[in-house]
Amino acid sequence: MKVIPGPASAELGRKIAIELGVEALTVHHKLFPDGESYIRLDGSVKGEKVLIVQTTSHPQDTRLIQLLQLTATAKDYGAEKITCCVPYLAYSRQDKRFLEGEAESLKIVLKLIESTGVDDLIVIDIHNEESLKRWEGVMQIWNLSATPIIADHLKKMGLYGAYSLGPDKGAIRLVKMADNVLKGGYGFFEKERDRITGGIQMTIKEVDVGGRDVIVFDDIISSGGTMAKAVSLLRSHGARRIVAACTHGLLTGDAERLITNAGAEFIIATDSVPSKFSSVSVAPIVAQHLRKIGY
Ligand code: R5P
Repeated sequence: MKVIPGPASAELGRKIAIELGVEALTVHHKLFPDGESYIRLDGSVKGEKVLIVQTTSHPQDTRLIQLLQLTATAKDYGAEKITCCVPYLAYSRQDKRFLEGEAESLKIVLKLIESTGVDDLIVIDIHNEESLKRWEGVMQIWNLSATPIIADHLKKMGLYGAYSLGPDKGAIRLVKMADNVLKGGYGFFEKERDRITGGIQMTIKEVDVGGRDVIVFDDIISSGGTMAKAVSLLRSHGARRIVAACTHGLLTGDAERLITNAGAEFIIATDSVPSKFSSVSVAPIVAQHLRKIGY
């Protein structure tokens, strides 16, 4: 097996190759002056099982095209089996039509990936795991979770016994997993998002956080609006230490300032989206999964 680290996940790809004890190929890439992507694989993939690692955070469309260039090229050069690890899968929040006439973006992206010859797709903490049940293609999709390893990292930092909180009901799966490690109980807030304005309303429900250390777990922090609201609600209900944790730290614009001003002690994320917040690597869980499915 060979690993092909895409330009957006070069370091993560190499880490996974080291975990698996296999070769990582070199990928030459550049952007032409007009913004188009150029990709060249250096090394043979003929008859090989390959793992292509490429996240699709900002600039999403460029990174998606690079991913498709990598998968299609590996196929053209005779790779026997192509597995893609796209730790952060762009467009996965638009997993259905919320309003009449909208594009079903997730379905379009999955179809594109499959069309280049991908056999297996590994994603991490996809926004809504249920959305994958609607996938009708032949490409097999695996959704892994980084929450247990984030919780384990926090446990090692002295946060054993902290309360695990989801900013909305969608995060219940994450906080259950976190609580298996932190053992301090779990719950979630009620959140409603206006589909037109994007504005959110959040309310506390049957959660007693007074004097407690609380970790807010979410799949994504993007504008920081959701996390900042959860943190300030916790603060106003007397929580002690508050930590903002997510798998995919997109943290656009003013997100960091919003969250820390609301009262979070720190922000923690994984290298699914490489940034200064990526304290936890998803390489071990990807390698472990690959071994489990026979690589
Ligand atoms: C939404 O349901 C997601 O789980 C996240 O809570 C959301 O995408 C975060 O976005 P933002 O940081 O812009 O509030």
